[in-house]
Amino acid sequence: MGFTVAIDGPAAAGKGTIARDIAGRFGLRHLDTGLLYRAVGALGGDPVAAARALAPEDLRRDDLRSLAAGQAASRVAAIPEVRAALVAFQRRFAREGLGAVLDGRDIGTVICPEAEVKLYVTASPEVRAHRRWLELGGDEAQVLAEVKERDARDMGRADAPLRPAADAVLIDTSAMSIGEAVELAAGVVEAAL
Ligand code: C5P
Repeated sequence: MGFTVAIDGPAAAGKGTIARDIAGRFGLRHLDTGLLYRAVGALGGDPVAAARALAPEDLRRDDLRSLAAGQAASRVAAIPEVRAALVAFQRRFAREGLGAVLDGRDIGTVICPEAEVKLYVTASPEVRAHRRWLELGGDEAQVLAEVKERDARDMGRADAPLRPAADAVLIDTSAMSIGEAVELAAGVVEAAL
């Protein structure tokens, strides 16, 4: 099995940017696992059937980044059969080649509990909502309400709730620039190589 970096945390904490940077810097492949749930939500119909039939082209739709797609993703992500249908693909991705960075909500706890590096990247809901609002526009108060709603659903579900693995390194990016957060995370990975 290759070297695995598991990055978990709530929406807009900076984990996607950190994951992409670490993958590029250390020559690892990267899987944004949120895209799997976003694609299942966007396909509509029976989410369990959609998860079982998910194909690579479904991950390339351009409507997957919106707030609405995020909300739909977190609804289908609470269904145990949907999660179960996506486990094998994620574990295979982590195992193949020299190594991989996977970012999501349950990578360190469920998908790759043996990962060499586990990071839990977080920030206050207000800071995360502000970042999302800068990216997507709209009404900032509404964005904050959606961030809090999604956190509550992801942390409160029975199957694979969002929480740091016991051995995860916590990175709170509330008062950091994204560059500082990336350097901190890269230092943790470097030390584990
Ligand atoms: O990370 P992103 O915002 O794209 O994730 C969308 C939703 O997919 C999350 O709110 C969460 O409900 C779900 N998800 C998950 N497990 C993962 C990745 C994402 O449940 N590993």
